[in-house]
Amino acid sequence: MIKRLWANRSKAKVSLPHTDGVPPENVPEHVAIIMDGNGRWAKRRGLPRMAGHHSGMKAVKRITIEANRLGVKYLTLYAFSTENWKRPKAEVDFLMKLPQQFLEIELEELIANNVQVKMMGHREDLPPHTLNAVEEAIAKTAGNTGLVLNFALNYGSRKEMLEAVQSIAADVRDGKLDPKDIDDEAIGKKLLSKELPDPDLLIRTSGELRLSNFMLWQLAYSELWFTDVYWPEFTEKHFNEAIEEYGRRARRYGGV
Ligand code: FPP
Repeated sequence: MIKRLWANRSKAKVSLPHTDGVPPENVPEHVAIIMDGNGRWAKRRGLPRMAGHHSGMKAVKRITIEANRLGVKYLTLYAFSTENWKRPKAEVDFLMKLPQQFLEIELEELIANNVQVKMMGHREDLPPHTLNAVEEAIAKTAGNTGLVLNFALNYGSRKEMLEAVQSIAADVRDGKLDPKDIDDEAIGKKLLSKELPDPDLLIRTSGELRLSNFMLWQLAYSELWFTDVYWPEFTEKHFNEAIEEYGRRARRYGGV
């Protein structure tokens, strides 16, 4: 069944059962998601928070398959923020095992379906077992040309911008860059997202209405879509609702 869903990607633009109203040109190129509500989902069921994260991992798979099927080109998932280190050690350890666990189960299928894995985050603080699993997936999928599945892992937008500013300042000091030439493009090239276009659509689950230090520069003109649904309960249907709503919006980028 899963294989069939993946395989249907090429047909996605012909027949979209959930998004009948959305012409293919209205499918966003880049969707970014703040996957929130794992803990509350678990609490509501009397389960430990880890059960919420484990269930959230299954939602990652569902939504990756669906994004691929719909013809989304980039899917960025906020899996761990620079602020998440403040959580209890057991939870941090559990979260740091999830990428490895996910890739052990899914990498083969990701490769078979032409998905490219990427990572956006501060690599230096990640435990070796987490980083190695992600780097291995990146290397093994580097030649693929389908959906880019970009994990924001140990990602923090302010740290990203701070490092970009430091790097630009060093380039100016070293005579490599004239301050007159610092423009949007020069800044974009210094960000962790330099290989990606800006997100067209940001989704946040769980009813929270904030950006939580996520892609603050890159989301300047993105469409925002919020839902009360907790991430472990987020399904293809909700994803399609967001895409349909995106298709109805007029993006003016400050113009008229
Ligand atoms: C926020 O919910 C969620 C996270 C900090 C972790 C997100 C991680 C996953 C969804 C799994 C990632 C899977 C892979 C494959 C990397 P929360 O814990 O803050 O929920 P709460 O606000 O209800 O407490």
